[in-house]
Amino acid sequence: MSAPFRVALSGDFRKPDGSPVYPDFDLAPLMNTPGVEMEFLEPANPIRAEQVENFDALILLMPRFGRESIHPDGRLAVVARFGVGYDTVDIEACTQAGIALCITPDGVRRPVAVAILTLMLALTGKLMVKDRLTREAAAGFARRGEHMGVGLVGRTLASIGVGNIGAELFRLARPLGMRMIACDPYVDPRFVAELGVELMGLEEAFREADVLSVNVPLNDETRHLVNAGRLALMKPTAYFINTSRGPVVDQKALTRVLHERKIAGAGLDVLQDEPPDPDDPILRLDNVLLTPHALCWTDQCFAGNGAADVRAVLDVWHGREPRGLVNKEVLATEAWRRRGRRNS
Ligand SMILES: NC(=O)c1ccc[n+]([C@@H]2O[C@H](COP(=O)([O-])OP(=O)(O)OC[C@H]3O[C@@H](n4cnc5c(N)ncnc54)[C@H](O)[C@@H]3O)[C@@H](O)[C@H]2O)c1
Repeated sequence: MSAPFRVALSGDFRKPDGSPVYPDFDLAPLMNTPGVEMEFLEPANPIRAEQVENFDALILLMPRFGRESIHPDGRLAVVARFGVGYDTVDIEACTQAGIALCITPDGVRRPVAVAILTLMLALTGKLMVKDRLTREAAAGFARRGEHMGVGLVGRTLASIGVGNIGAELFRLARPLGMRMIACDPYVDPRFVAELGVELMGLEEAFREADVLSVNVPLNDETRHLVNAGRLALMKPTAYFINTSRGPVVDQKALTRVLHERKIAGAGLDVLQDEPPDPDDPILRLDNVLLTPHALCWTDQCFAGNGAADVRAVLDVWHGREPRGLVNKEVLATEAWRRRGRRNS
């Protein structure tokens, strides 16, 4: 009989009492597949090499997976990130070692696009201030005319990045009757045109937007892509939304712009530091709507991410190219063939 295919889950998937943190992540396909074994790791950040040495697959939530997480003689063949951000994974080290890195675009596409829409509708509809006014009863009702919302028909929605999430945002926003613009130097312009979106340069998008949403990965090129100079191009009536990664934005510059009311407001699901320092001045602004990197967290999002990770892991077990593979070049390496062969 061949050795079991061993799947590890990072320790943050389990509560101290042993129960799952996210019950919507259905582990039954792993637990019920003959020949597959599943185990939660002890919490550690970063993942330590000896923790995963004897596993074939790792399903990874928050901890870092760096060069130090890879055992040179280990059998780990796939790291399946729960989500699509992989700035916590040393992809070069994975590729060199013959380890596939997979992500879950199918799981997050709709939930994050809906989260962006939620922020856009809440900001332009003045949802939070109207909630407060209502709780003030007569005094609040008396001031409701001071907080007129912004209608969206004919207004301009911009996305920096038209990938998995940016494109879905435009699909969902289409019935709102907005003009849709984007900046993405790497996307196929025909794909963007088919979405009904006008491509343009970065600065132009900042200038034109009534609502500007950032949907790029965090990397050396995009770190502080949103800086003081670009924020200064925005209309004083415009709203800024970031659900991508905090460090894509120079948060000090954004805080200043919001404090000086140079733009109308912002919706931020991600921050420079998470969790933020309790003294961070951005927490005290009344024109920013904040969510704890969790606005997209729904039962369906977690079920979808989990199902995608399980599929990727089982793909590797069956000797197939895993779905959601990021480092496709790994498939051509001798190191992958060695690890892959062990699992097929
Ligand atoms: N808030 C959350 O809970 C949450 C959940 C999932 C994903 N995210 C984040 O959302 C972001 C987008 O994810 P995705 O799945 O759409 O990624 P994706 O890789 O599918 O799309 C990113 C797009 O950005 C474009 N791009 C790259 N560099 C650019 C640049 N300098 N200027 C303009 N465009 C550029 C790429 O060409 C690509 O089309 C990521 O940062 C991801 O980490 C956040």
